[in-house]
Amino acid sequence: MENQAIKIDSSLRTVEWKDNKVIMIDQTKLPNELIFVEYDDFNQVADAISTLVVRGAPAIGVSGAFGLGLAVLQSKAITKDELLSDLEDARKILFATRPTAVNLGWGLEKIMNVAKTGETVEQIKELVISQAKQMADEDIEINKTMGKNGSTLFDDNDTIMTHCNAGALATVAYGTALGVIRATRESGKNVKVIATETRPIQQGSRLTAFELKHDGFDVSLVPDTAVGYSMANGLVNKVVVGADRIVKTGHVFNKIGTYQVATMAKQHGIPFYVAAPLSTIDLETNVDDVIIEMRKGSEVTGIGEKKTAPDGIGVINPAFDMTPPELISGIITEKGVATAPFEESISKLFAAN
Ligand code: MRU
Repeated sequence: MENQAIKIDSSLRTVEWKDNKVIMIDQTKLPNELIFVEYDDFNQVADAISTLVVRGAPAIGVSGAFGLGLAVLQSKAITKDELLSDLEDARKILFATRPTAVNLGWGLEKIMNVAKTGETVEQIKELVISQAKQMADEDIEINKTMGKNGSTLFDDNDTIMTHCNAGALATVAYGTALGVIRATRESGKNVKVIATETRPIQQGSRLTAFELKHDGFDVSLVPDTAVGYSMANGLVNKVVVGADRIVKTGHVFNKIGTYQVATMAKQHGIPFYVAAPLSTIDLETNVDDVIIEMRKGSEVTGIGEKKTAPDGIGVINPAFDMTPPELISGIITEKGVATAPFEESISKLFAAN
């Protein structure tokens, strides 16, 4: 079924379950058009995740869960085993879309575990859909709590740099890093934001600048190459970014370029914070085993449709990089803020969970 543009709206709810369909903002069209697409087939959701119609770790976690919601509705199974087998097939397709963000696997696994507890086909269908909806609602609540926890680290009149988009558009709503910035403003402090452009596909200019402007923030855009300049010239007080996967040692995998921003922040004595829910923390995988997604060269050899490099040029296009814990001042979560030594403080957050 073709994607269908259904409405233009001003509210930024990135992904939603409505009338047995998945509705999401088509982020490939931003900032020029705010278009919502609707899907009734889990294959469309898988396609939306791989083509970045929806992106951002928490948003793809919930989208994956909604994809399984569609899969149970699509299934013609008449026994529990048949339905679980159809679900497993759908899980594999959804899981294969993007490798770096841990939230996708987390969301899918959570649904699979709930599905297995159902006795009948009807019961499994209900359980899967209600669990997926609950995960979406919880995502917003978690972001708000995380925002409050992080807001105490920011001062009145701070100018905060952020990289990529870890906002409402990377989550169900409100955002992780941008959630912290929102909560800081809600606590009565005046803040300004500097958003990095975030080449190659410009989540900073297309999404973060759009989202913050949409919500009335004072936001300026800088090219990624001006991070050092901005910090050296006193334009930035603090940095907050999101994360796609954090391992138990506190190594943070986030959008390509994050490592450079963190290194520059260290060089200039600027606090560098990461905001992410516990679902982004992966206690199982070792830092060297995290897969960095390599994306197509055309994202680098052009901007949008416009070609900006010679034909036939070789391209290296990693979508994420790793920031080591020694560059990180704190990891803000819904359970509190972890600080060095991270292995210890992260395990305390989970123990309190
Ligand atoms: O490739 P994307 O757009 O899915 O990138 C992921 C991200 O949105 C960022 O890395 C973000 O900073 C973390 S997700 C809240």
